[in-house]
Amino acid sequence: MTYPIRPIDEAEWPAFSGVLEEAFGWTPHPTQKERYKAETEFDRTLAAFDGDVIAGVTSIFSFTMTVPGAQLPVAGVTSVSVLASHRRRGLLTALMRRQLADIRERGESVAALYASEATIYSRYGYGRAASELSFQIRKHGSAFVKNAPQDPELRLRVAKPADVRAEMEQLFASVVSARPGRYERRSQTWTGLLADEEFDQRGAGPLRSVLAEDDRGVRGYALFRIKSSWDDNGVPDSELKLYELEAADPAAYALLWRSVLDRDLVSRIEAGTRPVDDPLIALLADTRQLRARWGDELWIRLVEVDRALTARAYSAPVDVVIEVEDDICPWNARRWRLTADLTGAECKPVEDQPDMTLPVTALGSAYLGDGLLMESLAAGLLREHTPGTVRALGTAMSWSPKPWAGLTF
Ligand SMILES: CC(C)(COP(=O)(O)OP(=O)(O)OC[C@H]1O[C@@H](n2cnc3c(N)ncnc32)[C@H](O)[C@@H]1OP(=O)(O)O)[C@@H](O)C(=O)NCCC(=O)NCCS
Repeated sequence: MTYPIRPIDEAEWPAFSGVLEEAFGWTPHPTQKERYKAETEFDRTLAAFDGDVIAGVTSIFSFTMTVPGAQLPVAGVTSVSVLASHRRRGLLTALMRRQLADIRERGESVAALYASEATIYSRYGYGRAASELSFQIRKHGSAFVKNAPQDPELRLRVAKPADVRAEMEQLFASVVSARPGRYERRSQTWTGLLADEEFDQRGAGPLRSVLAEDDRGVRGYALFRIKSSWDDNGVPDSELKLYELEAADPAAYALLWRSVLDRDLVSRIEAGTRPVDDPLIALLADTRQLRARWGDELWIRLVEVDRALTARAYSAPVDVVIEVEDDICPWNARRWRLTADLTGAECKPVEDQPDMTLPVTALGSAYLGDGLLMESLAAGLLREHTPGTVRALGTAMSWSPKPWAGLTF
């Protein structure tokens, strides 16, 4: 059975949103639904129809995302849902195939997503490309190393987030290109991030912010909530939930973390998503105090291998012939010679003997610089025909800082 697929118009929005609510078991407040609608790019939605019924959906945010050494238009895939009545009939597969063709036609060479389950997307060519850590830090035990940076010109300013939105937006825009995986935020994204209705607070109190600044302006900010409590013995036992901490330089970064970690009456700090190379790891004298938990973050799909590979920068010179396997986007499935140095890259179709044979997922995993090609080689998941070439490509594709988007879409 086939299910016609097309973008929806605005009148079909309730049915589109209904599929997502049903599939995720999500019961949004009407205000949350309005926010979701305001963020939706209707021309980039796709719905699969069973007669008049919308049975499967997906959509895209048109991002500018940082990749190693560049910023690119990237398709941010979201809202992927199929009704329980129609699951496992191939709707997702049909939606993914159509969506990848649309992305290619629009000229984007890379797609990105957050996966609700890690087992879904590799069959469509997405590779796990970024990871995150979450920290559970107790205040006592959070001392910094002795040589942590300090700048006497810096001072803190406590402010309501809504009052300093423009300053935070400006600071974020100044740091977005510093790390692969970060994406430029639209106004609606900030509205969602700073949303502070009672249902947004989930019992953890209003959103709060503190800025680090000097006479020349803002150098960083932290966004958090405080779940206030005392234990049965009357000892303060509040929890600080950190949402964002962004800074333009190390001294501002250290000061903001100190402000969060030293907060009076708070005994625990929960930072839900942080990069795997968060400078906090080097700043803490006792890194065990992070109580870090690892998780996958962004998944990346190279929609056009050659354009994607030439759009990013490389950490070392490399010259390899890669044979790419890709049964969803067959235009990628062939041999390519990638030649790159510190000044640029070229990727040309060739008929030469390959140095390695790779599934397109492996290139997606390596694309943002997380070093995952080496991990795949060590796991025996890659076929290397010329010894040493996977290491050479993996080294060239590695990047610092490590990729991290930092905000789920
Ligand atoms: C995930 C979801 C979209 C899959 O839709 P679907 O139409 O049932 O998927 P398909 O029938 O096209 O399945 C294609 C393949 O993926 C597999 N698959 C689908 N969902 C899977 C899952 N959650 N875990 C593992 N495998 C899955 C199917 O078994 C099938 O495998 P096969 O090709 O080897 O037979 C649907 O189950 C859903 O809406 N889940 C809840 C919401 C959600 O998690 N969305 C993803 C947001 S990132």
